[in-house]
Parts: sequence; C-alpha cells; structure tokens
Amino acid sequence: MKKIFSPHNWEIKNEEQMRQLGYALSQSLEAGDVLGLVGELGAGKTRLVQGVLQGLGSEIPAVSPTFALVQEHPDASLPTAHFDFYRLRSTDDALSMGWQDYLHSGMVLLVEWADRFDGSLMPPGTVWVVITGSGEEVRRVKIKMEGC
Ligand SMILES: Nc1ncnc2c1ncn2[C@@H]1O[C@H](COP(=O)(O)OP(=O)(O)O)[C@@H](O)[C@H]1O
Ligand SMILES: [Mg+2]
Repeated sequence: MKKIFSPHNWEIKNEEQMRQLGYALSQSLEAGDVLGLVGELGAGKTRLVQGVLQGLGSEIPAVSPTFALVQEHPDASLPTAHFDFYRLRSTDDALSMGWQDYLHSGMVLLVEWADRFDGSLMPPGTVWVVITGSGEEVRRVKIKMEGC
C-alpha cells in the first residue's frame, strides 16, 4: 500500500461518494495488498469494492459474492479477488476454498465481513476499512493500517 492513505476518517453521504472513495483507494494499492472491509449489512462494502475494481479497470461486475464466496478479477490492472466471509460457517470453510493459496498469490484481496472469526483469517498488514452506518444514514469510513 503506497503511503497516500494516512489514517483518516471520511464522511460519505451517498453511494456515489462511496464508489469514489473506493476508486481513490485503488490508486494506492499494490500487488498483494489485503483490504478487510467491516460494516453491517447494507453499509456499503460492495459499493466501495465496485469503486476499487473500477479504479483497477476490471470489467467483470463486482457483485457481492455471497453465494460464490469469491469472485476473481484477473482482468484488473492488479489481479484481484473479492471475497465475502458472511456465509462462512467456520475458518475451515475458508481453508477449503483455498484461502491460504490466495494469501500467497500476490493478488489484491478485497474481503467483505473480514471481521468474521474475530478477524483471525486476515493476515498481518491488512488494511482495515471500517464503515459505520447503514440505510439512509451518513456513513463514516475509517481506514486503519498496522503501525498507524
Ligand atoms: N452513504 C452511502 N454509502 C454507501 N451506500 C449507501 C449510502 N447511502 C445509501 N446507500 C445504499 O446502501 C446500500 C449499500 O449496499 P452494499 O454496498 O451492497 O452494502 P454491503 O455490501 O455493505 O452489504 C446500497 O443500496 C446503497 O445505495
Ligand atoms: Mg456486500
């Protein structure tokens, strides 16, 4: 992760701003970066991911991969995989879908519900993107990196 994103809080008033934040964030990503997205259902995690993937030039639609658990975006300028841990029943489920291999793949990993299992699946160096608010509320987005 390039040091463009110092710890910061954003106030996001609509889904377009959330997409723009994702787009801006994408410009500081590097191969192998892991983003852990946290926020309740409807917080805007997928909206933010859509902005990131747009910024990386992927034309594969970024839908919430709730049923597939993972959606790969090999056409992005940095190969990316988008996960949703919401439906994982156990950490074993993650291991059986090859989570360890993804961690070593050098792909950018975008993970919705990254706080499942107390965040124990997420590697050191994860960039945490915490969204609060849902429904019609203004969202607050906090980005936290190790050592900051
Ligand atoms: N400020 C906002 N930021 C992001 N999404 C918003 C905002 N206000 C309303 N929304 C709506 O909230 C929903 C967020 O959906 P989604 O991104 O799929 O959430 P999640 O992936 O966190 O469950 C969208 O329907 C979007 O239009
Ligand atoms: Mg989602």
